[in-house]
Amino acid sequence: MEDVIKILSKIKPLIEKEIGKHLPRKGIPQILFDGCWKYFDYGGKRFRPALIAISCEALNGRIEDTIPAGAALEIAHTYFLIHDDIEDSSKIRRGKPSLHITYGVPHAINMGDYLFFKVYETLLSGQTIWGYEKTMKILELMTEMFGITGEGQAMEIEQRKKGLSKTSMEWYETMALSKTGYYSGGTPCMIGGIIADGTKKQIEALKKFGFAIGVAFQIQDDILNITMSKTEQRVAPRTVGGGYGKDFAGDIEEGKRTLLIVHAFKHADKTDKGIMRRLVGKKNITTKEKEKIIDIMKKYGSIEYAKEYASDTVKKAIKDMRKEIPQTKGRNKLEAIAQFLIDRKF
Ligand code: IPE
Ligand code: MG
Repeated sequence: MEDVIKILSKIKPLIEKEIGKHLPRKGIPQILFDGCWKYFDYGGKRFRPALIAISCEALNGRIEDTIPAGAALEIAHTYFLIHDDIEDSSKIRRGKPSLHITYGVPHAINMGDYLFFKVYETLLSGQTIWGYEKTMKILELMTEMFGITGEGQAMEIEQRKKGLSKTSMEWYETMALSKTGYYSGGTPCMIGGIIADGTKKQIEALKKFGFAIGVAFQIQDDILNITMSKTEQRVAPRTVGGGYGKDFAGDIEEGKRTLLIVHAFKHADKTDKGIMRRLVGKKNITTKEKEKIIDIMKKYGSIEYAKEYASDTVKKAIKDMRKEIPQTKGRNKLEAIAQFLIDRKF
């Protein structure tokens, strides 16, 4: 864990500096620039840029060469977070008020859109390092990622309207891979490999590895949403440490079909199924009611199941990746990050 914190702290200022080159602090109207900087200033782990950098290092590439791609992906992540907080009615992000709470929904949507354009501006600037061909390849991957993430988000939003019995484990896997696995795993790992001039086989291996750890990361996120202590929820991860910084059990209130919910419902008896149908997605649900659902998850071993699922996924991902990626310092770091993504408390 300490090693990973070090990796993340090293990459963070480099990414901030690169973002600053493309997103000024001052501009007209000032509110746009204040708003666009908010989530960056609130904190965040910056693990996606780290994945790009370390995947590149694993194939003996230079970390410095990945910075514009890392900055672009971090901007993309911020754009997703802003719109996701509106979609999910999340009031807290990184321990502070969500952007639409501070500025209202119209501004927040527009700030997200403005950042979306900055993703491409930042990527195009990388051409001086990568040259035309490689830049096109990276642009292609980012573009594909945006499409698939949107499909994953839509899958999740749509499912909330349906009965709990309609959601299968297979549905969850596809949804999590789409909404998170690409942009938080597969895409950054592939981009790192491309910048390092990896072979087709190596890039394919990095992609598979990234998909797996991206899904595992999402499962850990589902777990943290219901296991973090209530006092922790307002602690912002200002640097690379700190609390989880989201609404306690917000997923239950929003009626999200997390792995925990899917597993619990599948195994619940008639009475517990009834309780879940009544409370999952209930408007103005009380903390007590949220805790009732968490008790049901505990009763059926859903938290343990999700933990094991994430852990097995990471173990297998590392094992498979080792077959194609040579043993380098970078590869060791990549494995440490993968483990961190499921051990993290923030
Ligand atoms: C949270 O992402 C959103 C998800 C995709 C689940 P992170 O956990 O990376 O959030 P920050 O950037 O560190 O705050
Ligand atoms: Mg969402």
